[in-house]
Amino acid sequence: MNSFDRKAAELIRRYGSDILASEGMQKSRAFVQHGTQSIYDHSLHVTSMCIRLSRKLHIRIDERALVRGALLHDYFLYDWHEDGHKWHGFHHAATSLKNARRDFEIGQIEADMIWCHMFPLNLRVPRCRESWILCIADKISSVAELSPVQSILPKKLKYE
Ligand SMILES: [Fe+2]
Ligand SMILES: [Fe+2]
Repeated sequence: MNSFDRKAAELIRRYGSDILASEGMQKSRAFVQHGTQSIYDHSLHVTSMCIRLSRKLHIRIDERALVRGALLHDYFLYDWHEDGHKWHGFHHAATSLKNARRDFEIGQIEADMIWCHMFPLNLRVPRCRESWILCIADKISSVAELSPVQSILPKKLKYE
């Protein structure tokens, strides 16, 4: 495990343990995101990637908000491969924000991160640095999850 992944695991444990242990996140272990990755795994990859990017690029961010917003960005809580979710790409950010607000205390930064993470598919331009980082990290992680370059994803880390 490299130092960025170690730091990411530490921050995720510090700021996101309650989210990871929640009923909703545990449920997301059963929902497939890309390939063989669950939503739960994807959320961890993206959060870890957010931390890596912000540290490598020396971007000043609210680490707690970054971790919590990234963990909850795909908190839509259904299997989008099933019938009835044809417009998933356009609607799931709003659903995730609604669910996150119902289950957790959500600040402005976290809300903007979740609401805008599908930019530019959804034309909601991120207003915070944390949201831009999430936007980029989500796309890098999604491509990696679908391709043979999965090696850039963090190995099995102990977050809980
Ligand atoms: Fe998403
Ligand atoms: Fe995502």
